[in-house]
Amino acid sequence: MCGIIGYIGPKKVVPILIEGLKKLEYRGYDSAGVALVDKGKIHVKRVKGKIKELEASLKKSPLAGSYGLGHTRWATHGRPSEENAHPHRDCSGRIVIVHNGIIENYLVLKRKLKDEGHTFTTETDTEVIAHLIEKHFKGSLENAVRAAIAVLEGAFAIAAISADDPDKIVAAKLGPPVVVGFGDDEYLLSSDINPILSHTQKVAFLDDGEMAILEPSGVTFTDFKGNAVKKKVETLAWNPMMIEKRGFKHFMLKEIFEQPEVVRDTLLGRTSLDSGKVLLDELGVKPQLLKKVRKAVLIACGTSYHAGLVGRYFFESLAKLPVDVEYGSEFRYRDIILDKETLVVVISQSGETADTLAALRASKGKCAAVLAVTNTVSSSIAREADGVLYTHAGPEIGVAATKTFTAQMTALALIALYVAQARGAVDKKASLAFIQEFQRIPHKMEKILGQAKTIEDLALHFVPFSHFLYLGRWVNFPVAMEGALKLKEISYIHAEAYPGGEMKHGPIALIDENMPTMAIIPEDRVYDKMLSNISEIKARLGYVLAVAHENDAQIRQRVDAVIPVPAAHPLLMPFLTVVPLQLFAYYIAAKRGADVDQPRNLAKSVTVE
Ligand code: F6R
Repeated sequence: MCGIIGYIGPKKVVPILIEGLKKLEYRGYDSAGVALVDKGKIHVKRVKGKIKELEASLKKSPLAGSYGLGHTRWATHGRPSEENAHPHRDCSGRIVIVHNGIIENYLVLKRKLKDEGHTFTTETDTEVIAHLIEKHFKGSLENAVRAAIAVLEGAFAIAAISADDPDKIVAAKLGPPVVVGFGDDEYLLSSDINPILSHTQKVAFLDDGEMAILEPSGVTFTDFKGNAVKKKVETLAWNPMMIEKRGFKHFMLKEIFEQPEVVRDTLLGRTSLDSGKVLLDELGVKPQLLKKVRKAVLIACGTSYHAGLVGRYFFESLAKLPVDVEYGSEFRYRDIILDKETLVVVISQSGETADTLAALRASKGKCAAVLAVTNTVSSSIAREADGVLYTHAGPEIGVAATKTFTAQMTALALIALYVAQARGAVDKKASLAFIQEFQRIPHKMEKILGQAKTIEDLALHFVPFSHFLYLGRWVNFPVAMEGALKLKEISYIHAEAYPGGEMKHGPIALIDENMPTMAIIPEDRVYDKMLSNISEIKARLGYVLAVAHENDAQIRQRVDAVIPVPAAHPLLMPFLTVVPLQLFAYYIAAKRGADVDQPRNLAKSVTVE
C-alpha cells in the first residue's frame, strides 16, 4: 500500500505532486507529505489526514523547489500521525526518502544505527532507510541507496533525494511497483500509471532488483549492484480521460455503470461466432498442455477471490474439471501439493497483491502452468505468470472493486471454455450457445442499470440498519459473498453471506425484524431450495428482499421486495445479479455520508502481507 510520486522537470513541482497524490490516494490516505529541493536545501511538509489537508497546508505556507517527492500513507508500522507521515529524513535533513512496503528487520537495524549515533524521530520502519543512506553517503546518492538496500529485509519501493547530490531522484524496487514516466524533458516516478497518464503515455516498469536514476537529462536504469539495465519503454493504451468521474458523484458509481462496456471489451476478439472457438493465443500456453490438465486451482484475495469462486462453476460445468479456490494469503502457507496436470490461475485486479503474488511464486514450476487474470499491464503478477489474460476494464479508482469483478468473471469464463475446448469437454453447439448468451449479457446489464433509481429508493429504507444477511446458492453464492463485502466495506454495515442451505445449521438464530436478508434467487437448479430457505426466514419475521427473474410472479408473493433482473444462461446469472447488489451498497453508503471511493482503513492495492 502507500503511494509514491516523484517529479523532475521544468514545470512547477508542487501541483504535479499534489495532483499525482490525489490519483494515488486510493492506495492509502491516513497521512501525506511532500519534499522539495530548493537551492541546496530540502523542504518537507507532512500532514495527518488526506491529500486535501496537505494541499490546504501548502496553500497556507507554500514550498518552492525544482524537483521533489510525494507520498500518501497507509499505516503499517507506526500510527497515522504527522511525525510518522513520509517523507522521512536522515539526521541532517539533507537526505529524504519515501517508501511503500515493509522493512521486516527494521528493529535490528534501528538499534544498530542508534548505537552508531543516529537519532530517530518516528515510529516507522521506513526511517531506518534514510539513516542507512546517510551512513553510506559519500557523494553519490545512487551508491548510498545501493549500500542501504543491501541490508534491508522485506519489501520496498523507495525513492530518495539528497541536497548534496542534487538534481537526482533515485528509486529502487523489491516488491511493490514502481513506474517511470518519460515526458518531454521531464520524468516522473509513481506507484502506478494513473498520475503519469496526465503527462505521458510512455512508461517503463521497474522489475524487482532494479533501480532508476531520474535526472533532468534522462533516466538511467541499473540493478542493485550498479550494472546497467536496458528497459523497454512502453506506450500505454489508457488515456487520462479514463480516470475522470465524468459527471458521476463517485468513481464507484461511474465504474458500476461502465460494466456493460467492460464485459464487451473483455470479450472482444476472443471468441468466434463461426467456429464457436475461444481465441486465446495471447495466453501463450499450448493447447496440448491444456489438454492434459486434470485439475484447476484458482487463487486470489477479496473480491477477486469471489470472482474465482464463480470461476469454479465455469471450470466444473464447462471444462469438467475439479477445482479448488484458495485465498492467496492462506495458500502460500500451506503444504502445497501441485502436479504437472494442475492448472493454476491467479486473479488480481492490481496485479500487485502481495499474497497472490506469493502464491504465484509458490506454484510456478510445480504445475502445468500459472495463468494470471489481471487488469494491470506489466504488473508483477502479469510479468511473472506463464500466461496472462488481461481484463479490459480500464483504470478502477474506487477502492471497492466493481467493474473489475465482472471483467474477471468474463476472463475466467473465457479461460474455462478455452480449456474445455482443448480437452474436448464441450462440443461446438454448446460452445456457440454459451458464447451467444454471453454476448447478450452487456445489454441485459444495461437494463438493470436503467433501474438504478428504483434500487436507490429501495436501498434508502435500509440506511439505518446495522446488520444484513446475504443468501445465494450454487453459482450465486459467491455473488452473495460479494454483495455482503460491498455493503460492509463502503457503508460499514455488518453483512454476512451464507449459502441458503446453511441457514438452518446456525445463522437462522440471528433472524428477527432487525436482520434483513438479501436473497439471490434466479430460476435455476436451486430455485425451489432457495424458496424454502426464504420461507424459513419469513416464518421468523425476517424481512426479505430478493434479486429474482423479472418474469417470476411467484417470488413476489413470497418476499417483501423484489429487484428484477433479466433471465440469462444460468451460469452467467452472476453478471446480472451482482449489479443490483453493487448499486444497493453504493446508495446506502452514499446516503450514510460514507467516503465511498476511499473507505476507512482500506487501500486499493495491497502490496504488503
Ligand atoms: C474489495 C476489493 C478487495 C480486492 C483485494 C484483491 O472491493 O477491492 O477485496 O479485491 O484486495 O485485490 P487485487 O484484485 O488487486 O489482487
